[in-house]
Amino acid sequence: MSSRTPLMAGNWKMNLDWKQGLALVEDLGDALKDVDTDAVEVAVIPPFVDIRTVQTAVEAGKLPIAYGGQDISEHESGAYTGETSGQMLAALGATYALVGHSERRQYHAETEQITNAKVKAAFAAGLVPILCVGEPLEERKAGKHVEYTLAQLEGGVEGLSAEDAAKIVIAYEPVWAIGTGEVATPEDAQEVCAAIREALRGLFSPEVADAVRVLYGGSVKSSNVAEIMGKEDVDGALVGGASLKADEFAKIAGYQS
Ligand code: G3P
Repeated sequence: MSSRTPLMAGNWKMNLDWKQGLALVEDLGDALKDVDTDAVEVAVIPPFVDIRTVQTAVEAGKLPIAYGGQDISEHESGAYTGETSGQMLAALGATYALVGHSERRQYHAETEQITNAKVKAAFAAGLVPILCVGEPLEERKAGKHVEYTLAQLEGGVEGLSAEDAAKIVIAYEPVWAIGTGEVATPEDAQEVCAAIREALRGLFSPEVADAVRVLYGGSVKSSNVAEIMGKEDVDGALVGGASLKADEFAKIAGYQS
């Protein structure tokens, strides 16, 4: 039994305006009353324009919900139209910043070099980066899923101190399982999550490898989460579609009960 507290993070993607986001976070706060939130950490990752609203609701209701941004600029401040800095997120009370989600890699050409700069920008602002890695279907079919995913991991964490590395969250999200209803088997998830931990052992140290939370993401629902969480190296889930319904996401968070 590891000492890592599981993390269930809901990535809203480009869904829910601020009013809908407010309703969801308040409903989630209610639904989590039945969940032992000392035993599992719950986070939401809303669109940037909803974060101020989420902050207000969380603070007003003292809700056991952390939150973060879906992206972060690699720059600190200045003439970068459309970007949001780590400092801005931190000033809103954010804990996390997603980095290198496959949709950002695919539609916004985020390279390993960019994800690495964003991981460092998150730490510089006092945030915890959730670095997303995972292979497309062709790589899986070619049996190169571990190799491909570890290359993304190594690029993303390059140059980190062991102290920062121990705090990072890694989300293994096989691209073919995202939003498709096709979930990786618990064995598939375990294979790659274990390989990620083993790689961290070599890149940093056994202590870092033991401390880092490795999440699985891709069509996680209340009906499949317990099985996936039963695997030794899976420390939580990064949830898309199923995080948009308060009851369903609270059931995912309460997978142990
Ligand atoms: O970041 C979460 C994600 O990409 C998985 O999405 O909808 O398959 O749970 P979904």
